[in-house]
Amino acid sequence: MHDIITIDGPSASGKTSVAKLVAQRLGIPYISSGLLYRAVALMCLLENVSAEEIEGRLEKYRLELRPTPTQNLVFLDGHEVSKALHSLEVDQIVSAVAVRPAIREYVNNVLRKIPPPFVVDGRDMGSTVFPQARYKFYLTASPEVRAKRRVPERDAAYETVLAEIIRRDQADQKQSAPARDAIILDTSHLDLDGVVRAVLKHLAP
Ligand code: C5P
Repeated sequence: MHDIITIDGPSASGKTSVAKLVAQRLGIPYISSGLLYRAVALMCLLENVSAEEIEGRLEKYRLELRPTPTQNLVFLDGHEVSKALHSLEVDQIVSAVAVRPAIREYVNNVLRKIPPPFVVDGRDMGSTVFPQARYKFYLTASPEVRAKRRVPERDAAYETVLAEIIRRDQADQKQSAPARDAIILDTSHLDLDGVVRAVLKHLAP
């Protein structure tokens, strides 16, 4: 199987958990593309510079994503930074980083070098980065449902997480482009297992 399966959707729609489980069931790697934007956001924080300023310094860094069966490890110049990528500080600046075309090109080049097969999640994987993908999904859920799912992953109150999700939905609108041929799955009333089953049902045996 040399296929690419794309799973796009807004923040906290469950796309990474779904991508991981679908990939496990198929015995292929999963890739979370948002981690690469998060890594560029981390570069801004480490250097204390803006998204615009980091653009000129991207080539200075060696950014690498290594998929393992259970997680994605991200390395900056050989140092593993995976654990630093999911802070509220990164959440707050990552959209401003991801909106910049030069940064998108940088990230897309890293992604396109990864050999298939894999399941990849993001915002524009099916529409822009891998339009040739054999299967494309787009997950949706209400902001309230997504905030409830995300609270245990963040050291913050429900209201703070909800406000951050609504803000990021707006900030990410420009860089979120569901593929026209994607299968849309509303996950508001499904648990993780239910979404994984719904995705697997669409894949040819
Ligand atoms: O998926 P995740 O929430 O980790 O993504 C972090 C951020 O990276 C998103 O809020 C969005 O700004 C950006 N992103 C993107 N395109 C992708 C994946 C993520 O613009 N394919």
